[in-house]
Amino acid sequence: MLIAQLSDVHVGGARYRGELLRSAIEEVNAAAPDLVVVAGDLTDDGYPDQYPEAREELGAIECPQIVLVPGNHDARNVGYIRFEEEFGSRDTRMRIDADGLDVALVAVDTSKPDIDEGEVGREHYGWIAEGFDGEADLRIFVCHHHLMPVPGTGRERNQVLDAGDVIALLRRLEVDLVLSGHRHVPHVWPVAGMFIVHSGTVSTLRVRGFPHPSYNLIRVDGSRISVELRIPGGEGRSLGNYPRDWPLDLSARDADVFVPPPKTPPLAND
Ligand SMILES: [Fe+2]
Ligand SMILES: [Fe+2]
Repeated sequence: MLIAQLSDVHVGGARYRGELLRSAIEEVNAAAPDLVVVAGDLTDDGYPDQYPEAREELGAIECPQIVLVPGNHDARNVGYIRFEEEFGSRDTRMRIDADGLDVALVAVDTSKPDIDEGEVGREHYGWIAEGFDGEADLRIFVCHHHLMPVPGTGRERNQVLDAGDVIALLRRLEVDLVLSGHRHVPHVWPVAGMFIVHSGTVSTLRVRGFPHPSYNLIRVDGSRISVELRIPGGEGRSLGNYPRDWPLDLSARDADVFVPPPKTPPLAND
């Protein structure tokens, strides 16, 4: 299975460069992934003129399975409503048959209007758990904000407010991959049986520790997950090639002293 992970498009921003996005989408289409994830910050300010442009540009993605979530920039200026108008639901639960793999995916909007902090929110935990119910060969969680601090990003800020509880929840649900953006620096944290994969900014010059715009190509086969960082119109390099299965004692799923609350009826519906 091949996954393309893009984020932080920032259409309308002063340092947005449309040619980078078009170049990345051309490369992604040529790679023919089974799934494309656009992990937030599609626009720079959530303004009404930025969303149609973002939709038009991202409409060039040819993959039949595309999952998008809003970022903090998209939720500015009541942009979360415009996100729904242009792209549909801000949260997604889906099953994909990808190259013989039964994939369960849950994507959550972690943005809050007009603030940069992110939060999943306890009211979504039951809804997330339901999305990962049953057998699956691969479980993928998507949100814009980072669950783990990312090196090379300066002062830590805007991490998911309930990151600890969310990481514990995702570990308990046996999630394999967490796909996020926000910090504009590509990075992979192997943690507690999961691979938390951050994409850089695909189409802006708002870069930090890693000085190039970039996106990720993630390959999953029966036993390994590899992450390739790609510079639009440029080169690629590996962000790691990992064994998929963690020994139970390393994933430590059974060693959590925190007792999660009983499953509550979810507030969000599909
Ligand atoms: Fe961003
Ligand atoms: Fe962001």
